[in-house]
Amino acid sequence: MQKPSGGPRSGVRAMTQAMTREIGSTGVEVYPIGWGPMPLSLGGRPSERDAMAVFRAALDAGVDFWDTADSYCIDDKEPGHGERLIATALKTLGVAGRIRVATKGGMTRPGGSWVRDGRPAHLRKVCEQSLRNLGVEQIFLYQFHWPDPAVPYAESIGALADLQREGKVRHLGISNASPAQLAEALRIVRVESVQNRCSPLDQEDFHNGLVQRCAEARIAYIPYSPMGGGAGKRQMSGNPVLKSLAGDYGVSPYRIVLAWLLGKSPNILPIPGASKAASLTDSAAAARLSLKPGDAAKIDALGR
Ligand SMILES: NC(=O)c1ccc[n+]([C@@H]2O[C@H](COP(=O)([O-])OP(=O)(O)OC[C@H]3O[C@@H](n4cnc5c(N)ncnc54)[C@H](OP(=O)(O)O)[C@@H]3O)[C@@H](O)[C@H]2O)c1
Repeated sequence: MQKPSGGPRSGVRAMTQAMTREIGSTGVEVYPIGWGPMPLSLGGRPSERDAMAVFRAALDAGVDFWDTADSYCIDDKEPGHGERLIATALKTLGVAGRIRVATKGGMTRPGGSWVRDGRPAHLRKVCEQSLRNLGVEQIFLYQFHWPDPAVPYAESIGALADLQREGKVRHLGISNASPAQLAEALRIVRVESVQNRCSPLDQEDFHNGLVQRCAEARIAYIPYSPMGGGAGKRQMSGNPVLKSLAGDYGVSPYRIVLAWLLGKSPNILPIPGASKAASLTDSAAAARLSLKPGDAAKIDALGR
């Protein structure tokens, strides 16, 4: 929660961020900052040995919600790289029970490009492969990665409903979804999370009512690429408003961005990317930072 403007006498409670957040209405509480290990699986990724140091940093910081996808890999020669890396890390570090892993299906990587495939048969095949990649009997949170214009949305969501009925996945989420697509999905299944691109420079979901709708329905809103993605992070860290706030609070601009997101709504669970331990440790500390309402408003204004 954002720091309220009134002091204790005003009767307003909560002066600091809560140290856990529930994922939707699953009853599962996690650290408010999650992690997207995607940069450990794409081009320019570190060695597996160096990657393990980043997993260790996540554990040390208490970051216990990790997001991946079967398509986090360099190309279609190694689908599931990200899922297998997580399985290796959990085994090596002996912490499988402590981490909630979310994955996704619905994107393929022919020749390294990103291509949508929302056909029910494809979603079934890749979900079953994700179970093997992760080495689990049931996926904690399975998300439909990206609506496929060639397949009616209800058909893709219906396929996920079948996988849930069969016990292959425990909870369902959607990604890259509009408010209308959320409404359509909710007519078919219980949706626990919506994962969309969202950052100070991309605030559409605050303006179109999606974040608010998720909050009302107790659905987690998971902002992805909160720093603007691998290429956008320089734009974010060089932004004059964020740089100035970073100076005022004595923290990195990245931490300012995450504290702003956490303050926007209690159902928000950001998943910053990190391929370096230092980035992850810095991002995790955002859970202990509250921005003054006037400062949060300065970031809101970047999206207008
Ligand atoms: N659903 C979807 O369609 C979708 C699409 C894209 C991403 N995602 C998910 O969202 C996650 C995050 O997105 P992203 O990786 O594209 O971008 P991001 O969160 O915007 O981060 C981009 C880069 O910023 C740097 N960074 C982040 N926090 C930092 C900090 N505190 N200090 C210094 N540098 C920091 C990291 O660099 P270093 O690598 O140098 O540490 C990171 O790789 C992904 O890993 C993935 O799980 C989902």
